[in-house]
Amino acid sequence: MNTKIWTVQSTEYPQSIINEVATFFQEGKVVAFPTETVYGLGADATNDEAVARIFEAKGRPSDNPLIVHVSMPEQMDEFADRGSPLAQQMIAAFAPGPISFILPVTETSMLSTRVTAGLSTVAVRIPSHPVARNLLESTQLPIAAPSANSSGKPSPTRAEHVLQDLQGRIAGVVDGGPTEEGIESTVVDCTGEVPIILRPGSITADQIRAVIGNVELDAGLTGVTSAPKSPGMKYTHYAPDAPLYLVEGEIKTLQVWIDRFQGEGKRVGVLTTVDSKADLIADAVLTCGQRGDIATVAKALYDTLRQFNEQNVDVILCETFPEDGAGAALMNRLRKAAGHSYLY
Ligand code: TXA
Ligand code: MG
Repeated sequence: MNTKIWTVQSTEYPQSIINEVATFFQEGKVVAFPTETVYGLGADATNDEAVARIFEAKGRPSDNPLIVHVSMPEQMDEFADRGSPLAQQMIAAFAPGPISFILPVTETSMLSTRVTAGLSTVAVRIPSHPVARNLLESTQLPIAAPSANSSGKPSPTRAEHVLQDLQGRIAGVVDGGPTEEGIESTVVDCTGEVPIILRPGSITADQIRAVIGNVELDAGLTGVTSAPKSPGMKYTHYAPDAPLYLVEGEIKTLQVWIDRFQGEGKRVGVLTTVDSKADLIADAVLTCGQRGDIATVAKALYDTLRQFNEQNVDVILCETFPEDGAGAALMNRLRKAAGHSYLY
């Protein structure tokens, strides 16, 4: 399959591009597009075959449901129940933005059952990225879109990442430049009385608590149970080719581990921030953002993880970050990328 590339780097671009992509969606084709979090792999959520193509292109297990993207809350009524007080408050406070709401599926839902993997709930998101919004408004279709990576790889924050994984496997990609947030949306279960965070993201627990009064974390995130409510959380994720270890402690400890692995004849890559680059000696020292500004680390994380694949390293070591605020989402992704492997 020839993968078409449309470039919309600037804020000014011809509407004909958006119309062409909208036509692709109407024809059941799969097209990747930028959102403020990561690139999504979109298709018509009401078209069974189109949705099947998403799973096939990514190599995604069919029991892992997709997020449905719409342009405005009213559009959710075609398939989801947003009527509860909690859902109403959450949507009013945080949409559009980097957050997905888990809502009950309605009996009259037009969605392909593949989207929800047979669950009675559906994840819905209204992205704020101008290109995504334009696209969703133009098609008027609910668009199912997981992150546009091969299953298990780091999510794409640039169109090049999408092409690395999926060129020839999808109909097209809209290149809107690097994404702003860099990690996926916060997934919040809004089906009960209290919001439950199933996947942390850049909308933080504190922000939700400030609006709703309370918020819970899914037990699967705190490590108490091994059965997370968000089906996707049980799979290996975000992994670079070489094994990744998180190193607790000071930068000195990181250097001790670098030396130890090198002593075993291994080529060692280090993932750190600009703050510590000068203090570390390894085979490849890649930086992502500034330690004092977690948003900059999150934004660069997946791109940096992918860069290690060109460094020919045997092992990657990474510092850890405080888990408050935006650090919760960052450490959630790092732990998953590392398969929960820590060194002390
Ligand atoms: O930022 C994002 O959320 C990006 C952009 C493209 O919107 N999308 C994304 O999709 O990250 P994906 O498929 O990579 O992750 C969706 C997550 C998975 O962990 C999935 O299990 C969970 O949302 N999810 C989807 N539907 C669910 C449901 N009904 N109940 C619980 N979790 C659900
Ligand atoms: Mg994903």
